[in-house]
Amino acid sequence: MLRLAVLGSGSGTNFQSILDAARAGALDAEPVCVLSDRADAFILERARRAGVPAHAFDAAPYRTKLEGAGEARVLALLKDHGAEAIALAGFMRIVKRGLLEAYRGRIVNIHPSLLPAFPGLEAWRQALDYGAKVAGCTVHFVDEGTDTGPIIAQRAVPILDGDTPDSLHARIQAVEHRLYPQTLQWMARGQLRIEGRRVLGAPETPA
Ligand code: GAR
Repeated sequence: MLRLAVLGSGSGTNFQSILDAARAGALDAEPVCVLSDRADAFILERARRAGVPAHAFDAAPYRTKLEGAGEARVLALLKDHGAEAIALAGFMRIVKRGLLEAYRGRIVNIHPSLLPAFPGLEAWRQALDYGAKVAGCTVHFVDEGTDTGPIIAQRAVPILDGDTPDSLHARIQAVEHRLYPQTLQWMARGQLRIEGRRVLGAPETPA
């Protein structure tokens, strides 16, 4: 069982899909802790209800990145819980070198666009405003850039004439909830390998 930490800042629906897959035996990972930079994030409440250790940490003085004292707090919590890998699930901060070096090649993120299109905030809204006809989601290894790490898997969803930002985000999230646990299972099984920008070993199964 891969000892997996989940970091998030929001409602935690992706965490829920990971937890559900793990408890259903579809994911050979154990969520060992949920960490959030926001004490009021519902992801923490989901974890508590499920009996998964949940911690809010202070990321001050930074507003958009995880560095310095905040990063040190996270590293200490990860060590306390024996985390072997990290899934970012709606974590709205840029992770920096301390965490990347401690968990090199073992931090993954889910992003609500077909990267490299629309990195950054509210990617679904960016795609809609741009006039794109296809949106989607990407699971990737995390590197020092913003949504730039090697891509593990992507799924597309259509953008429809009647879409609002909320309706499009909901369609993307439904796909995220299938793709993320699936992708984590490939990582848990050790079948992924990074060769430069490419990640090999992901089977071509529709998630
Ligand atoms: C998800 O759609 C995820 O892709 C996105 O935040 C949402 C979190 O939802 N992540 C990013 O935008 C990261 N740049 P959740 O808290 O319900 O899982």
